[in-house]
Parts: sequence; structure tokens; C-alpha cells
Amino acid sequence: MNIADDPDRAPARSHLYAMGLTDDDMRRPTVGIASTWTGTMPCNLTHRDLARHVATGVRRAGGTPMEFNTVAVSDNLTMGTPGMRASLVSREVIADSIELMGRAHAFDALVCIVGCDKTVPAAMMAMARLDIPAVLLYSGSMMPGRWRDRDVTIQDMWEALGERAVGRLGQEDVDDLARNACPGAGTCAAQYTANTMGAVADFMGLAPFGVGDIPAVAAEKQGAAERVGEIALDVLARDVRPSRILTADALHNAIVSVAAMGGSTNAVLHLLAVAREAGLDLAIDEIGAICRRIPIVTGLKPSGPHTAVDLWRAGGTSLVASRLRDAGLLRENVTLVDGRSWADVAADARETPGQDVVASVAEPVKGPGALAVLRGSLAPDGCVLKLGGRADFRREGPARVFDSEEECFEAIQGGHVRAGDVVIVRYEGPAGGPGMREMLSITGALVGQGLGDSVALVTDGRFSGVSHGLVIGHVAPEAYQGGPIALVRDGDTVAVDSGAETLDLLVDEEELERRRAAWTRPERLAERGVFSKYVATVGSASDGAVTV
Ligand code: FES
Repeated sequence: MNIADDPDRAPARSHLYAMGLTDDDMRRPTVGIASTWTGTMPCNLTHRDLARHVATGVRRAGGTPMEFNTVAVSDNLTMGTPGMRASLVSREVIADSIELMGRAHAFDALVCIVGCDKTVPAAMMAMARLDIPAVLLYSGSMMPGRWRDRDVTIQDMWEALGERAVGRLGQEDVDDLARNACPGAGTCAAQYTANTMGAVADFMGLAPFGVGDIPAVAAEKQGAAERVGEIALDVLARDVRPSRILTADALHNAIVSVAAMGGSTNAVLHLLAVAREAGLDLAIDEIGAICRRIPIVTGLKPSGPHTAVDLWRAGGTSLVASRLRDAGLLRENVTLVDGRSWADVAADARETPGQDVVASVAEPVKGPGALAVLRGSLAPDGCVLKLGGRADFRREGPARVFDSEEECFEAIQGGHVRAGDVVIVRYEGPAGGPGMREMLSITGALVGQGLGDSVALVTDGRFSGVSHGLVIGHVAPEAYQGGPIALVRDGDTVAVDSGAETLDLLVDEEELERRRAAWTRPERLAERGVFSKYVATVGSASDGAVTV
């Protein structure tokens, strides 16, 4: 019985009257609108506005909207600082928050408005847990900035620090770029983590194609948000729940999108986490195997020249989907949230004449290999190499070992890391960091100094979607749990073979046993509060670093 007609819910009714709701409002289906708005970042700055437009769509379709908010942490603003530890932790807190609100208020349906990196997988995880009819609205990319006659993004900003270190740019140049790199609201402006996960939401079926890739500040976004509000009532009427959408085939299609669009390594972590929440078996190696056979069909930064807005102008994720479908790379026995089929999405796709952002599968931008999953004596449970479509390579080099991102960054900026080194950054894993900081200060410094292709970086932390170069992250087991990466010493030989998909520490077993016996776990950084709870419950990166 609804609240309006239940005699015992009169106290609840009094609070709903206090908010201006009528008896009729209470008799309509309630749609929770989870916004990840915060005023601390440009990425999610439009969400309050979007929530109002979603609410308009909900009302128009016969529902009663109820808005609520979650926390969110900006990766860019916290990058290279201790605050970055909060980023991956926030994924769990956001998922928990949406879940709690859904359970407390027993919404009939749910819309999740998301943007910055962790908010997208967090919403997916909460949708899987609640399993009520739900739609995801990705709020959209920032426009690129313009500096010295070229489009720039936050990637240029980070690499400028490396260029400053070798004297190619001065501080005035860096400051000038900072004033021009990010011209307004929206998520980081290319195929970094947020936009990778926005596309994943489309291909997984949780978000309607044609909405997420509209830029955050484009006028069309508001009408699209209203349509999402209407879709929420439609999925309720059709009783389309996340458990119907989140299938093994849907995950397959999502992984194909990451591979085909040269997406972020963070997608590996998040796809594993969503699979766990949905009760689906997904092994990290399956993600690597799919990436091995899917060519990169978009020329998006960081591995290509184009920005997210270029993709939208060219035809968006619908055009990418149509190309992948034409090549038979998508599994079609899936449910898309707006009721369309892959054939409908392909038929609705519009290609801008002359566009050069989306290629065909037959003549891709790059060959297969956006990402590769490696295993070996240094990563028995796996790790992720950002291959970016480059040719397979073998590399052996002496280890340069650092126990934190800061130590390593200082050494690079001080000129103490040389071509041929294999830089190891450890105790930055899910529990050890805690929170798997992204090593963008390091990769930006290496690329900026021209060492991006000659220094390999191996870490139990992770990478920003902006990062590129010879980067291997998510090494599992992590150092804090006594994984082999904790045993590496300066000068040890580390061997990477991307073709053989191996990462090995070339030290004999007896010596490793001696080091293992002498190893002690470092003290925890946090004995109280959210980090303490996180460290006590978080699992391995090879399982998505979910808390249980
Ligand atoms: Fe929020 Fe990049 S820091 S999307």
C-alpha cells in the first residue's frame, strides 16, 4: 500500500506534506534521483541542474522524483597528494550511499547522475545491489581548452610539469596553460577514465546511447536528461532491472568498448567490481583476452589526437557501436535500458561526413591491444599493461625501487631515473596505499622528460586514464599483502614481455625466500576512520578491489 493510503504511515505523510508533496504525488511511483554533485570539481558541476531536468521528465511520465546527493572525489584535484588515497575509497562510499538511500526510501525506480571517474562504476555497483528498475545518466565531457593554437586537455597540463623539469617550458608557460586547459564544467576531455566508463555504461546497456556523449555544457544535455527521467518510468513499467541487463554478454560488450576505444586501465578494476556486485564470474584474464583481439577504432587521446567532443561531433558512441556491430564484435542477445536493440542503435547512428575520429574495424586506427593482462613471478595474480595499440615489446632492466609515489616523483624530477630503468612503485595498492593512487605525477614527468618509451613503470597502484608510456599497474598480490613486488631490490633485473604476457623478477628462488622471511608489513597509515575500515575490508586489484 502506498504512503497516501496507509493509515499507519500518517507520520511519514506529514514529512512528505512538509516538502510540498500531495496525496496524488504519494500515489505515483517514486523515482530516486542520485546525483553525485559536489561543488569541489568541474566534473560533476552540472549535476544539480541535470537532476532538475531528470525530475521534470519523471513528473511528465507520471512519477514523483526524489533527489539526493552523494560524495564525490576529483582525481585530478587530489592527484599526487595524500588526498588521492580517497579516490578509489570514494567508489565504495558512493555505492554504499546510493544503496542505503535506495533501501531506506524503497524507491520504485532509480536514476543515477554520474560524471567523475569513480562515480560511474559506483552507481553501476549500487544499481546491481538494489536491482530496482534504473537508468544511468552520464553527465558528459568537458570541452577541450585552447592553448597556442591547439586543443589541450588536462593531459597536456600534467605533461607540462615534465617539460618544465627539462627546461622546455617555464613556470609562466605552465601557469598560462593552467588558465586555458579546462574551459568549463565536464569530465576530463578525452578517453580517460570517466569517458571510458561513460561509454562502458552505454555498451553495458545501463545508459541510453546518444545521451552520455553529449558534452556537459551543450544545451541538448538538458532535454536528454528529461528523456532519461521518462525512461525511468518506462523501465519501471517494463520491469527492466539491472539483473536483466547485467549479463555475461553485456560485460563482454562493455569490455569490447574499452578495447575498441583505447580506454583507461581503470576500466579493468571497475568492470571486475561491477561483475562481482552483479554475481557474474569475470576473470581479469578474460578482459586481457578480449583486448588482444579487438582493434582500436577511435583516435582518442591519450593514445590518439582527438578529444571526447571530437567523438561526439563525429557520431559518438552510437557510431562506434554501429562499426563494432557491423564487424560482428558485439553480442546481441542483451537488454539495453531504453528497449532498443543493437540493430536499432546502429540504424540510429549518424556519421558526420568527413569525420576522422571513428574508423572501421577492417581499417582501424591501431591494431588490437589497448590493454594486456600479464602474469609472472612479479605478479602471480596478474597486472595490467597499458599497451595502447603499440607493437609487442620485450624489456629487461634494472629495478629502481620506491616505496611511495612521492619518493619516485622526486627522483625523476631530480634526474635520477635513466633510460632503461624499470621503476617500481610499491605500497600503493588497494590496502597498502590505501586506495591505489594513480601515478599521473610520475607518468606525466616521464613523458614530459622524453622517457615515456624508455622507462618502464611497474606498480601495485594504478594509473590515471591520462597516463601513457610503458606503464604496468594493478600488480597483485600487492606489496602490503607480501606480494613479490615487496621483495624487489634496487638493481634486480625485471623482465617484461608483452607478447608472452609475462612480468618476471629475475632473482633466484632461494634469495627470494630469504627476503620473504625477513619481510615485515609496514605500519598502517590510518588506524581510525574511513581508511581503516577500507584497509580491513578491501580485496585484491585482480578482483576489482571491492570491499566485502
Ligand atoms: Fe573528474 Fe577527470 S578528475 S573526470
